[in-house]
Amino acid sequence: MSAHIPEGEVHPPKSHPPEERAEAWSSAAEAYDDFAEGATRHFAEDAVRLVRLRPGSRVLDVAAGTGVFTFAAARRGAEVLATDFSAGMIEAIGRKCAAQGLTTVKTAVMDGQALTVEDASFDVAASLFGLMFFPEHDRGLRELLRVLKPGGQAVVTTWAPPSRGEMFRLIGSAVMKALPNLPPPSKPPHWAALGDADDLRRRLLSVGFARAHVVSVTHVWTFESPEWLEQRLSSMSPASAGLFEAMNAAQRETFRRALIDDLRERQGEGPFAVTNEGLIAVGTKSSGT
Ligand SMILES: C[S@@+](CC[C@H](N)C(=O)[O-])C[C@H]1O[C@@H](n2cnc3c(N)ncnc32)[C@H](O)[C@@H]1O
Repeated sequence: MSAHIPEGEVHPPKSHPPEERAEAWSSAAEAYDDFAEGATRHFAEDAVRLVRLRPGSRVLDVAAGTGVFTFAAARRGAEVLATDFSAGMIEAIGRKCAAQGLTTVKTAVMDGQALTVEDASFDVAASLFGLMFFPEHDRGLRELLRVLKPGGQAVVTTWAPPSRGEMFRLIGSAVMKALPNLPPPSKPPHWAALGDADDLRRRLLSVGFARAHVVSVTHVWTFESPEWLEQRLSSMSPASAGLFEAMNAAQRETFRRALIDDLRERQGEGPFAVTNEGLIAVGTKSSGT
């Protein structure tokens, strides 16, 4: 069966990691939305408060996913263009806009490393937990800078390094029980290159932002049960789906039990929660004066 490839959706060769594949994110869109509503939404609410965003501001959301930043900005009265290279994600945003009767949000399938929008056309350009997956981080940052009006602001969020993330530790320990012979990763994931606050600030300045600052924020992600979390994990991102595909049925069961037992041992009958640490970087374009 030949898949319909929507205009703008990016299909790199199969050799690319799953996080760089639009169709892998499209398959994850439904489960990802549950994660985003509980986890990344809190960072989006911080991000809209950290930039100069007013009613009528023109806002670009790059790698928008299911739209946490898009909707946070729209609630503040902004006119938003939500973009993502995954058609599945963009369709999810479209459905939410239709359900809410929202007319201030437009959507487009677009690669964040080659935005098909004009120079200097937005007051705010954002990429929350999205640009971190681009093969070339600086290319994504330069695109945000390019599309900003003079004095406009970009906001970018990433996760802190995996060693500081409770969720990564929880998953890592369950993986070690399921796959005890798996060698430890030889290098940190590509996205972790943006996980240091000082480096991230320097990176924004080096691509041409006139000013930049980075804040570290920790939020609690609450969920209804360990079983709920385990079910979502198998499909909520290309990386977690890949992990499940690499396990046979017995290994999956060991993983499942380890994750559930770990959470129940710590949190009994709940409420269940893990903390997520993220970095929020704000870059300001020169006003040209
Ligand atoms: C972890 S999700 C983040 C979504 C949303 N911004 C949020 O904070 O919940 C990563 C998103 O980046 C998108 N993405 C990854 N690489 C991309 C690229 N090169 N261009 C555009 N979108 C991309 C994926 O399709 C996915 O929707």
